Amino acid sequence: MKKNSRREFIAKTTLAAAGTIGFLSFDWQKDFSKQIMSEELIMPSGDGTFTLPPLPYSYNALEPAIDAQTMEIHYTKHHQAYVDKLNAAIAKAPELKGKSIEELLTNIQGLPDGVRTPIRNHGGGHWNHSFFWQILAPKNSMDQPTGKLKEAMISQWQTFDNFKDQMKQAGTGVFGSGWVWMVADKDGKLSIVTTPNQDNTLMDISTAKGKPIVGIDVWEHAYYLKHQNKRAEYLDDIWSVINWKKAMEIYG
Ligand SMILES: [Fe+2]
Repeated sequence: MKKNSRREFIAKTTLAAAGTIGFLSFDWQKDFSKQIMSEELIMPSGDGTFTLPPLPYSYNALEPAIDAQTMEIHYTKHHQAYVDKLNAAIAKAPELKGKSIEELLTNIQGLPDGVRTPIRNHGGGHWNHSFFWQILAPKNSMDQPTGKLKEAMISQWQTFDNFKDQMKQAGTGVFGSGWVWMVADKDGKLSIVTTPNQDNTLMDISTAKGKPIVGIDVWEHAYYLKHQNKRAEYLDDIWSVINWKKAMEIYG
């Protein structure tokens, strides 16, 4: 079955099951999230468990912006732990087995009481990190977007530097742990939003909503070894390794 038709099939069968487990309509996902991540990244494997996706570059590929040790720990320890704890939660609610990570996250309110919080936290952690790895790329790739995404950014923030300043302000303003995002609404209009902990803008329970185009992890584990408490410095450095080609693809 082709990827799109498989996803439509999954959406239809989930809608058919909606009455039994309280899942909501898929309209939002149909409008926004189809092209955010590949089927391989959002679907569980054949046995219904999620797995750590391959890192698309080596641990030292993003230096000096992100050091190799941080990348290795972030990917092999933190992301792996989100995957393991997500799988442990799903094992307690077998009716959720086989659902994509996006099906789970866009319907947090419909999840069984006993697994709602672990799936929100660890499922969010799994999706957010899978997204983060693909929105980063080694240096010397494009340093700014072009085309439709560039036009939309200029119309919103006038200059690329102004956009970066706004992201930095929003990212440094996150109290504790969270994420800063550039998201698009249905009409392609861009905005900068933040989410706490491992929430993201796909989640039905999130007040900030939209299609993630760029997402930056501002948890201390993302930068502490190199930048210590200087989150602003990390947010200055990260622009050299943002994968604008990917962001443009996602924006459409
Ligand atoms: Fe992280």
